[in-house]
Amino acid sequence: MIEQQNTHHRFENKNTTSRFLAACRRRPVDTTPVWFMRQAGRYMPEYRALRERYGLLEMMRTPELAAQVTLLPTRLGVDALILFADILLPLEALGLGLRFVPGQGPVLERPLRSPADLDRLHPVEVEESLGYVLETLRLVRRELNGSIPLIGFAGAPFTLASYAIEGGSSRHYLHTKHLMYSHPAAWDTLMTQLADITIAYLRAQVHAGAQAIQLFDSWVGALSPQDYRRYALPYTRRIFEGLADLDVPRIHFATGTAGMLPLLREAGGDVIGVDWRVDLDRAWTQIGYDRAIQGNLDPVALLAPRDVLAHHVHRILALAGGRPGHIFNLGHGVLPQTPVENVQYVVELVHAYRPVRTEPPGQKTPHLPLARTDANPRKEATEP
Ligand code: CP3
Repeated sequence: MIEQQNTHHRFENKNTTSRFLAACRRRPVDTTPVWFMRQAGRYMPEYRALRERYGLLEMMRTPELAAQVTLLPTRLGVDALILFADILLPLEALGLGLRFVPGQGPVLERPLRSPADLDRLHPVEVEESLGYVLETLRLVRRELNGSIPLIGFAGAPFTLASYAIEGGSSRHYLHTKHLMYSHPAAWDTLMTQLADITIAYLRAQVHAGAQAIQLFDSWVGALSPQDYRRYALPYTRRIFEGLADLDVPRIHFATGTAGMLPLLREAGGDVIGVDWRVDLDRAWTQIGYDRAIQGNLDPVALLAPRDVLAHHVHRILALAGGRPGHIFNLGHGVLPQTPVENVQYVVELVHAYRPVRTEPPGQKTPHLPLARTDANPRKEATEP
């Protein structure tokens, strides 16, 4: 093999062999791809240095800065980058007034509390009101020059609606569920509108260079399976169907959904993202092996001693069992208290791992250094 003498070696063009995109399509890969939700954030000193100079929204709205932040995790050796933006930006475009309050998180200044409030939503023209996000994607793609793929994203309708209605983060989603249960027609109007904006937004992101897209339904685990089916699933499905003609993998991520994984599958996505509250092999069996799976390390494990962290990482990889279609990630975003070295360590562990494959009878399974035999993935999994 010819070694490239290129100082920008990490930017060389190897996109055609991206293991992240291959795994999304359940194609065999040389090693399990890995990236992290919130991989560009406060746990990184470079990020904190930028945040001392700029506000969060200012950074997101300035394509040069947002591109710079998007690119920060490249040095960790991750297999994909995710656009630096926020799922709440389209709510600002709808006229709800978005602010990030230190110590409190996001605040929507004019939340939707009654059906009449829906009348004041602004029409959203993506190029006009979210053009800075598209420009960020173009800048990052240009900078990456095909080295690793870039993921675009948006919030799913339920999670967006929860912020739009509560006015910020919530514990019990009282206002959201009140509107949902008491005003089903208004709920349908709002959710359909959010879905349609999201379709336009994600299509524009793909046209601007996103090579995969992820839909975040972070808080939908607050719903019972029955309510999910009625009040959330149709709108999420509308989005995935509305993007079906695009030639990019679609990732469907949610948390707290161990009790309704078949419903997430039904709502759509080529890849289903799961959190750590379910064992990966059980989750995959329920989702079906005709979909790829992403996950599912507990983000707090990144703060554990190295041997404990390695055990968690190896267990997930063992449960995936070397089946094509696993993308290693956390079950939710990187926490600000996380040591950067541990994030990098996980990348190394994942890339070094070689699965113990189940060989046909009579054939000896080779013993490989990092493979663990104490968590046999086939023990309980039932093949379809
Ligand atoms: O993953 C990435 O690195 C890409 C960037 C990204 C951000 N937000 C940047 C951000 C992504 C994909 C998001 C998605 C997002 N935003 C979600 C879905 C994923 C999830 O975590 O559940 C949600 C629910 C939000 C809403 C949001 N934005 C909250 C609740 C907060 C405050 C919480 C916190 O960590 O402070 C934000 C702020 C935010 N968005 C930060 C970052 C890096 C923190 C930034 C800072 O204060 O400097």
